[in-house]
Parts: sequence; structure tokens; C-alpha cells
Amino acid sequence: MLEWDDKYSVNVSLIDEQHKKLFEIINKAIVAKQHSNNPKEIIEILMDMSKYSQEHFETEETYMKEFNYPEYQDHKEEHRHFSTEIIAYHDKVIKGDSQIANEIIEYLKWWLVNHIQVTDRKYIDCFKENGLK
Ligand code: FEO
Repeated sequence: MLEWDDKYSVNVSLIDEQHKKLFEIINKAIVAKQHSNNPKEIIEILMDMSKYSQEHFETEETYMKEFNYPEYQDHKEEHRHFSTEIIAYHDKVIKGDSQIANEIIEYLKWWLVNHIQVTDRKYIDCFKENGLK
């Protein structure tokens, strides 16, 4: 299970709350896999992840544009890549590949933790300078 830790904080409460929600969605996937490995549940979780991550990415990208954050384009590209991967996994499960639940969970965990700790972390100073907290 993914557990929230202060080391993941980007010092903006709204964004921390959104990241926690993304952790929760991944944890739902882990529990679903342990209990039933039902492809329908994995599909629903991927749809939740797609919808909620989109909302979260829009929040960050709106701030980045507003604050003229210099790494906006690269950051946005990472978000787009993740969204594309989620759709690709969704399509694979729909087509009957239910054996990839573990791979999906490992990808979601790896991507989110890595993105928060490396890419999101870079905007902390910029967002702070612009008064976010
Ligand atoms: Fe928190 Fe850039 O996603």
C-alpha cells in the first residue's frame, strides 16, 4: 500500500490533498487485486485515475501558466504521457488482458511517487514565491 508521508508534500495544501486522493485510488487498485482480480474493478479504477489525474494536472498546469513557470511545457508533457499510458492500459484490460493488473499497479505507484518527488518538487519555490500555500 502507498502511505502518505510528509516527504511527498509540495507545501501547497490543495495539491497535497489531490496527491493523497491519487494515492487512495492506487490503494483501491491494490485491494481490488488482492481480493478478486476482477477486470471490471481494474477498469473502473483506471477510469477514476484518468478522470481525477486530469483534474489534478489541470490544477497544476493552471498555476504553472499563471506564474510563467519555466518548465511548464516539459511538466505538461509528463502529464500527457501518463494520461496516454492510462488509456493504453484501460484498452488492454477491456480487450481481455486481465493478467496485467500487477504491471498496472506497479506502473501507477512508480510514476506517481517519482513524478511527485522529482518533477512536482521543482515548482515548489516558484509556487511559494507566488503566494501559494
Ligand atoms: Fe502532481 Fe505534476 O502532478
